[in-house]
Parts: sequence; C-alpha cells; structure tokens
Amino acid sequence: MISSDVVLEAKDLTVMFKSSSAGLLGKSTLFNAVENCDLSLKTGEVVSLVGESGCGKTTLGKTLIGLIKPTSGEVLYYGKDIWKLNGKDYAEFRRNAQIIHQDPYASLHPVKKVYDIISAGMRYHKLYSSETEIRKKVIELLTIVGLNPPEYFMNKYPHQLSGGQRQRVAIARAISLNPKFIVADEIVTMIDVSLRIGILNLLLELKKKLNSSFLFITHDFGVARYFAAEGRVAIMYLGNIVEIGPTDSIVNEPLHPYTKSLLSAVPVPDPFLAKTRKMIALRSIDPPNPVNPPPGCKFSDRCPYFIEGKCDKKSPELVKVGGNHYVACYLY
Ligand SMILES: Nc1ncnc2c1ncn2[C@@H]1O[C@H](COP(=O)(O)OP(=O)(O)O)[C@@H](O)[C@H]1O
Ligand SMILES: [Mg+2]
Repeated sequence: MISSDVVLEAKDLTVMFKSSSAGLLGKSTLFNAVENCDLSLKTGEVVSLVGESGCGKTTLGKTLIGLIKPTSGEVLYYGKDIWKLNGKDYAEFRRNAQIIHQDPYASLHPVKKVYDIISAGMRYHKLYSSETEIRKKVIELLTIVGLNPPEYFMNKYPHQLSGGQRQRVAIARAISLNPKFIVADEIVTMIDVSLRIGILNLLLELKKKLNSSFLFITHDFGVARYFAAEGRVAIMYLGNIVEIGPTDSIVNEPLHPYTKSLLSAVPVPDPFLAKTRKMIALRSIDPPNPVNPPPGCKFSDRCPYFIEGKCDKKSPELVKVGGNHYVACYLY
C-alpha cells in the first residue's frame, strides 16, 4: 500500500565528478554524473530507474542513501536534509536506507561467515540485546530469503555460495534492519538468467511485507516493467531524468524519443503492442559521453526528431503531460 507520506525526496540534485581520463591539455575535467534531478518516493512506492550504463543511476542511488554527498541540491528524509541530521537522527536514517549492490561477489565480506555478515547491522545499531535474539533473527531472515536450512547457510563463507545465493544473503542483510527505503542496484544483472525471476519475486514479496519504498535500478526495461508494474518508471539519460511516470503509461505511451528507443529494443510478447510500437532509429549509435555532452538537450545528437535552433540551445525541463507523467522534450 502506498501512503501519502514522502519518505525520501531529492531536490535539484547534482553530483559532479572528475573524469578519470585526462582531457586535451592533460587536465581532468569535471562533469555532472547526476544533474538537476528531482525525485520523491512515498511509503511503499517503487520507482524503477532505467538508463544505459554510465548514465548516473548508481550515483543517484548512492546519493539518495547518503553514500555520496551531492555537489548541490538536497536529499530530504521525511523532510529533513540528510546532511544536516544530528548524530542520532543520522544513525536512524542510515539504518532505514539500505542498498543492495549489483555485484554479489564484491559486496559481501569474503572472510566473514554469512551469520556475521547478516548480523553486523543489528549489532552495530544495537537492535537486540542478546546473542540468542540475534541468532533467532538471522535464522528468520535466512528462511525468508529462501536459504534453507538456515543453520547450514549461516556457517558458510560467501565463496562457498552461488551468485544467486549470495544475492539472497545481500537481501537478508539489507532487510535485517527493517529499512524504510531500499536501493536495489542492478541486483539481477550478474545472476544467471534462470535464477533472476526468483530473486525479483522474492524482493517483490518482501516489498509487500515490509512496505518499504524501493528505487529499483536497472538498464533492462523488461525487468523494470516487471518489478515496478504497480509503480513508476524514471528514465535517465546522461545524468538527467528525461521522463517519469506510472509504469503503464511509460510502457504504453512512451513520449521521450530516448524512452521510445529503449522500449523499441525490448521484445514484446503482445502483438498489439508490437504493432503500435514503432522502431525508432537513432541518428548516432555512438555511446553518449557524459564528460562532453552536446549543448542543449543532451540527447540532441542522437535524436531523430532534433529541431535545430531549439534542441541545441537549452536543455528542456520536465513538464507535466497528464496524470503523473512528465517528460523533458520540446516535442511536448
Ligand atoms: N567515483 C567516481 N569518480 C569519477 N567518476 C565516476 C565515479 N563514479 C562513477 N563515475 C562516472 O560517472 C558516470 C555515471 O556512473 P554510474 O552512476 O556508475 O552510472 P550507471 O550506474 O548508470 O552505470 C560514469 O561516467 C562513471 O564513469
Ligand atoms: Mg550502475
């Protein structure tokens, strides 16, 4: 159930990085990995963030949970700027904002047993007073994420588990503190295709149970559509959110040429949808470069609907086009 409370809100968020490759004069250049992003998540809401590799999804996700400090703009947790919270409130925020990373091989401490990995957060935040309670909770969590029998799995090291099992451990760790907000960052990308649906369904079940809000990051529209079927999809292009709206309306009526191009690459089982969905050809197939975007709309050098004198002048802002659907494009 989605309530009207806003758990987390990004306001005009910009994150600037130094590019690792040196520029023409041997100097590294600054660029905006995330630029002027606004996003808010209500209790129990799922927003799926979709875009090509390198467009800033992980950076936005990490900034939302306080792992990266924005260059400008604010992240508000129940209306309060997370970078201005006092010690106690900050600890509460950290407990309530969790992330599940893409790489289940790198994200779990290699020389710690599953038991210690899952219980570390509870210990740190002193959620339980005795080892007996902690053990009970670890067993409960392992059961919930489908690692049975829990007594067997809790004594394993990450290298003794498969990718899918590790991702289940990472999920158990993330939910161990009953977080209000979870960033799931490409969590099935590195998992065997045959195991993906199981992980996605587990997470959807947990979402219902915990009523947490999710930012579900993926480069795969099909996965986004499945996970955020009852939520919203946000499309990111070179650091900007270029379209955002209810999943149904984004999938059935994509407006931004970039969204259309992403969707035309997704296989559709429904012949009606397939007919209505035109293939859209990009003017350039070069991968976009975040360090040196074209002037104006960053998609203008690839866009088949490019309007000279307009799209190359000023970046379009997100405008409401009906319902809860917004798009940043001069065509609308
Ligand atoms: N810590 C960092 N320092 C400098 N550049 C970074 C850093 N992290 C990411 N980047 C760059 O910022 C851009 C966005 O990266 P990222 O958020 O990881 O994108 P995505 O998750 O969409 O693939 C990329 O060009 C990436 O190379
Ligand atoms: Mg990423």
